[in-house]
Amino acid sequence: MCGIVGITTNGNAIEILFPTLQRLEYRGYDSAGVAVLADGNIKIVKKQGKISDLISEVAKSNFPRYAKVVIGHTRWATHGAPSDENAHPHSDCKSKIAVVHNGIIENYLELKRRLIPKHNFRSETDTEVIAHLIEENLELGSGDFESAFLNSVSQLEGAFAIAAITSYASGKIMCARRKAPLVIGMLNSGFVVSSDVPSLIPITDKIVPLEDGEIAIIEPNNFTIRKGEVLVKREAVSIALDVQKAEKGGYKYFMQKEIFEQPKVVEDTISAFLSQWDEIAFPPYKKIIVTACGTSYHAGLLGKLWLETIAKENVEVDYASELRYKDKDFSDSLVVAISQSGETADTLESVRIAKEGGAKLVAVVNILGSTLSREADIVLHTNAGPEIGVAATKTFISQLTVLFLLSLKLGGLRKDSHLVSELRRISEKIDKVLRKADSIESVAKEVAEFRNALYLGRWVSFPVSLEGALKLKEIAYIHAEAYPSGEMKHGPLALVSPEMVAVFVMPKDRVFKKNISNLKEVTARGGKAISVVTEGMDKEVEGSWRVLQTPETLEILTPFVTTPVLQLLAYYAADYLGYNIDQPRNLAKSVTVE
Ligand code: F6R
Repeated sequence: MCGIVGITTNGNAIEILFPTLQRLEYRGYDSAGVAVLADGNIKIVKKQGKISDLISEVAKSNFPRYAKVVIGHTRWATHGAPSDENAHPHSDCKSKIAVVHNGIIENYLELKRRLIPKHNFRSETDTEVIAHLIEENLELGSGDFESAFLNSVSQLEGAFAIAAITSYASGKIMCARRKAPLVIGMLNSGFVVSSDVPSLIPITDKIVPLEDGEIAIIEPNNFTIRKGEVLVKREAVSIALDVQKAEKGGYKYFMQKEIFEQPKVVEDTISAFLSQWDEIAFPPYKKIIVTACGTSYHAGLLGKLWLETIAKENVEVDYASELRYKDKDFSDSLVVAISQSGETADTLESVRIAKEGGAKLVAVVNILGSTLSREADIVLHTNAGPEIGVAATKTFISQLTVLFLLSLKLGGLRKDSHLVSELRRISEKIDKVLRKADSIESVAKEVAEFRNALYLGRWVSFPVSLEGALKLKEIAYIHAEAYPSGEMKHGPLALVSPEMVAVFVMPKDRVFKKNISNLKEVTARGGKAISVVTEGMDKEVEGSWRVLQTPETLEILTPFVTTPVLQLLAYYAADYLGYNIDQPRNLAKSVTVE
């Protein structure tokens, strides 16, 4: 999704600008642009396509090679198609102001209708309205840029993060945040402003996050933050993210590297959780409501099963994009919000509603310093390190690790219980799955020939099936749907044919025999079944077209070994089809719009 960067320094901001923009690429985007103040006017270069296209365009232009203040942006189209004109930054009629923006200005049409008689609009975006509105407020007001900026922001409706530079106040970056992330990072000389904490990893480990409704004015030697008339004092916080983990390290794609990191991620997550085991304390509650989006929601479904089975808790799970509209009674509830980024707009909005309704908030989150982590009463860190591939993999496994341990903790188990010991053995088993990647790759090449796939599983393997189907859709662009296997005969069985591949996730567990019957229903109708089974169970699934085996573990822990098989199946299918795996089309890493 869109990314903002702005740098103000006593050195050369251009040197930091392009590498930082490149580190925003992983979020997903379709165009990019940069703006600098040159000879009293704003110079903008913007381009549809990749940052490399922008860099070529910059090289052809007279864009300065040295500047102290710059802003840049990666755009993920919402208002208007991906194009050079719609790319950010946008400027006013006189080219004295440049604005980059994430989020949506909900009243942009109303503002545009008012401004259009006197202003020359050059794009279809909501963002351009901001530049013209500042221009109008400057003309109407005292000519003071800061007041015009403040006044303009107060007229905007929606959720947004904004950064602007201007020739009226050279050296300054003006920023505003309302329900979309924006942080100030400390540089050796000067400051960087960004909408994405991981993009700052190599250049700073100290940030000052902005809160909703705040305005920041950033200069090379200082910055001020204001909320209305009040000056805000806020200490910098450390971001504990590792540079090396944000590099590909010899793998073809980040996603591949991240899948192979999973054994270590599980170990790290277990160690971190156990080290705070005795300190973690929960307020009294009557029910647990789990909420999240996408892959994190699938982790939530597994969390529910574990909390119910191990801790005998009363648990509901809801998509955050649905929960927020439900008028639920949140009193006496513990809301567990799961998010890799900690910035997903729907998740943030639903937890705010829950908190207003009296809930206590537990955040299962990967990015410390993110909005979700700051708003939570209790933070359970997933410790997966930076995840760059858009498709979530290692963060899903780390979420499972935290949710499993949370179930043990709430179930009153001790940290030396046999379930903890079994979990400790799981990373070795994931490693065993990964060592058999070759056999998964050859099946994946066959999967790549299909246009449709079903993923089927029961009980703990149903959320795993949902996750496997999501991975295949997002990176290999193959239509995939997941069902609880027992639901097949109630409708989806009508789809089964030799053109349909059916992936059965059926490890040795309490529902294995039931799955065998469902497998037969599919193979008897010509469906091509790929059975993912526990080692030694291959004889039981005869009739399967292909069989993939996983190491034996406790039935409740099987998601840890079946998930990597499905991740690799999707990964190798997408690689065989030649897609850009780390940046799938239309998708964004951090979904900051509702
Ligand atoms: C899928 C994927 C998304 C995210 C979802 C929530 O591979 O990555 O479905 O899981 O957008 O994001 P977070 O976890 O950052 O809240």
